[in-house]
Amino acid sequence: MKLKVINEAEITPELDFEIKKALCRCFPDDAEIFSRSRAWHGSVPAWSVILFDDSHIAAHTGIIDRTVEVGETCLRVAGIQNVFVPSEYRGRGLCEKVMSAAMEEAERRNFDAGLLYCVPKLERVYAKCGWWLLAEREVVRIDENENQVPLPAKNITMFFPLKVRTFPDGNINLRGNDW
Ligand SMILES: CC(C)(COP(=O)(O)OP(=O)(O)OC[C@H]1O[C@@H](n2cnc3c(N)ncnc32)[C@H](O)[C@@H]1OP(=O)(O)O)[C@@H](O)C(=O)NCCC(=O)NCCS
Repeated sequence: MKLKVINEAEITPELDFEIKKALCRCFPDDAEIFSRSRAWHGSVPAWSVILFDDSHIAAHTGIIDRTVEVGETCLRVAGIQNVFVPSEYRGRGLCEKVMSAAMEEAERRNFDAGLLYCVPKLERVYAKCGWWLLAEREVVRIDENENQVPLPAKNITMFFPLKVRTFPDGNINLRGNDW
């Protein structure tokens, strides 16, 4: 298998199609959206990390470049989106391979920290990859109508330490839509 870090400008139409096809399979409830775009809520990845098994995608994540507010501070975060491992490749730790490569690249690009949102049952999967739960944080995003709205309470927030080793106190404003 071959791991690749691919800048958004280098994503070919064919690869874009293959990622969207896999997103539709892995997130069937959101297939209508992913059949059109990989940019959840308009948030386009700066780069993607893909593990290829020959020409097949065995694991994927997109990474958003965003400066967010945390309490009184601003942090440039590498936001994780669209993590998937197709069902035939699951349970072999492949998710960890793309997550590790994503954060190594974020460190090279001088980001402050990694940030992701997920459902609570995935906390264990990401904790194995070195991510930490941020409990009791209010998180707001700016929606498509420019309104400030909270992120759904069903999601948990996790961070990955890079330049910033301890996440600052305070609520989080994503200063844009979520990813
Ligand atoms: C979440 C996901 C990326 C994990 O990828 P993965 O490479 O299989 O991760 P791991 O190999 O670390 O396995 C994670 C857990 O999946 C479970 N698992 C194991 N084999 C599995 C299989 N064949 N099928 C489904 N789940 C399996 C196990 O509970 C495992 O936890 P463990 O460490 O206690 O064994 C993958 O299941 C997936 O794509 N799910 C659908 C999309 C999704 O929810 N993405 C995350 C959005 S935030």
